[in-house]
Amino acid sequence: MITALSGDTSRLRTTVDFVREQDTATLLPLLLPGLDGPELRTLVERCDFSHAALLVFPPDEVALDATLAGCGLVADAPPRPSVVVRERLAVRHKRCAAELDVGILRPAVECLDGARRWVEVFALTVPPGSDLDTVAGHERERQHEAHVAFEVRAPDPLVLRGLCATFARYGAAPDGGGYNPHENGTVFYFTASAEAKAGYRRVEMYVPGDHRDILAAHLDEHRERQPAETLLRLLTGAWTTQALAAFARLEVADAMDEERVVGVAELARDVGAFAPNPATLLRYLTMLGVVSESRDGFRLTDTGGLLRADAEGSMRPLALMYGGPFYESFAGLGHTVRTGQVAFEQRFGENHFDHFARDPELAELAELFDRSMAAGSRMFDPLPAHPVLTGAAEGATVVDIAGGSGELLGRILSAHPRLHGLLLERPHTVETARLLLGAAGHTERCTFRAGDFADVPAGGDIYVLSRVLHDWDDDRCREILRHCARAMHDTADLLVIERLLPADGSASLATAWDLHMMCNVGGRERRADHYARLFADAGLTLVDRSPLPLDGNVLHVRRTGAANTASRP
Ligand SMILES: C[S@@+](CC[C@H](N)C(=O)[O-])C[C@H]1O[C@@H](n2cnc3c(N)ncnc32)[C@H](O)[C@@H]1O
Repeated sequence: MITALSGDTSRLRTTVDFVREQDTATLLPLLLPGLDGPELRTLVERCDFSHAALLVFPPDEVALDATLAGCGLVADAPPRPSVVVRERLAVRHKRCAAELDVGILRPAVECLDGARRWVEVFALTVPPGSDLDTVAGHERERQHEAHVAFEVRAPDPLVLRGLCATFARYGAAPDGGGYNPHENGTVFYFTASAEAKAGYRRVEMYVPGDHRDILAAHLDEHRERQPAETLLRLLTGAWTTQALAAFARLEVADAMDEERVVGVAELARDVGAFAPNPATLLRYLTMLGVVSESRDGFRLTDTGGLLRADAEGSMRPLALMYGGPFYESFAGLGHTVRTGQVAFEQRFGENHFDHFARDPELAELAELFDRSMAAGSRMFDPLPAHPVLTGAAEGATVVDIAGGSGELLGRILSAHPRLHGLLLERPHTVETARLLLGAAGHTERCTFRAGDFADVPAGGDIYVLSRVLHDWDDDRCREILRHCARAMHDTADLLVIERLLPADGSASLATAWDLHMMCNVGGRERRADHYARLFADAGLTLVDRSPLPLDGNVLHVRRTGAANTASRP
């Protein structure tokens, strides 16, 4: 928390210095490169640099006041609730707006040119231990809400149209806006060109009064620009996958760190790359927030840090997998859509599990697949605290069916020393699991069984099917579930971990993985009611479900008609 606060304090201090030192005439040409002469003078006559804004993340109001005081600022009034920034955060992070407590403060700054300007402070309260930490981390890194604002003096429609046209002529693109009836003011947002030198790209033009007619034209222009830009960004998605895969494959992240800026020449030398080219890759990755650029080189961001091989929860294997075999198979997506055949099988001549397992030459690939599954395991973080596991009796056995390399079973056994484990897997993967769970010190409490779904052993107390059913079509799922139901005694529990397609069409990672499953595995993601029907067909009942990170869910299932199908405890 100290780091978080001091991070906010240093950004706030930088913002205060910026507001104190800049004036309208010097700031405008930095934001609108090339603006000069009579046009600059006209703009300076018509509008004033009024504030710079930033978003901070205090644990409470007392800490916020202390942060302000530490920067020589005094709030003129208690925070007013923010509507616009709160909504933008809710949309960006797929949160309910009501969960986000965002206030606005506008402490004044006495400036070097004698003017009085303001720092606009948006404060999202992040109580200690709250899961808003991830929102704060992303926002600190990307600075979406940071902007500078100009207030237009004595606006009239002609002046306003002229100002908007001048901004556009010097590369600032319309980027939304709105009318605030409480203040009777109209806000026009712009994004300055990439050549802007001010350290800010987002520019606000605040116009006292109701100028919704001119705002409508500004918003139309924004909308018109959007489809082509949006499509270009989407069409180049493959470049993003390959840029990340190349970064991971060349182990560039491993040669960088989050604390230190590394020069491009040094990096090229360290990773054995052709000297000028890593800079182009790194600039692209800067745009994606994977690294950040400064005058002396590049620094790894928290996002980029996940591509280091030794990072906790490293996602490097996923980058290699999605940029490697699954990248090749995705080229056949059209074939899958047209014919119903699985593109991976068309490209590699066999089912992906067989392909990865068949050939000793592909052993590396199989290991990569197992490691890439483990790389998505942040989904498992809350699972050991599931009531079925916390309420399990002393000595109870958890059977992880197709448990992969044992990532989940290992977490369960570590969290619950009184439980035993049994991992059922295909032969090559069971060996990987044996090694990993052995290294974690679980050999004594864990049994390993090489086999097929038909070999689900009886006698377990808690059965787990994690990210297995989505690999298969409905008929095969029913078969697997029947094997489970047959093995389960009356009071046994089954935990099914899957992403669920949202019933209301809202955005979810499940929708993307549905496509991946169709193209590569011949499986699919499903809605909760679809799973409930499959369970029912196999003599099982869905009794409860709860969310997991990365849009995962844990479905609690019991045998239909078992003494008590209700969720416990
Ligand atoms: C998507 S992975 C999930 C692994 C693990 N449960 C997890 O969540 O990380 C699916 C697993 O199913 C295993 N599998 C595929 N076919 C199988 C079969 N016929 N019998 C047993 N396991 C199988 C694969 O080896 C693979 O590890």
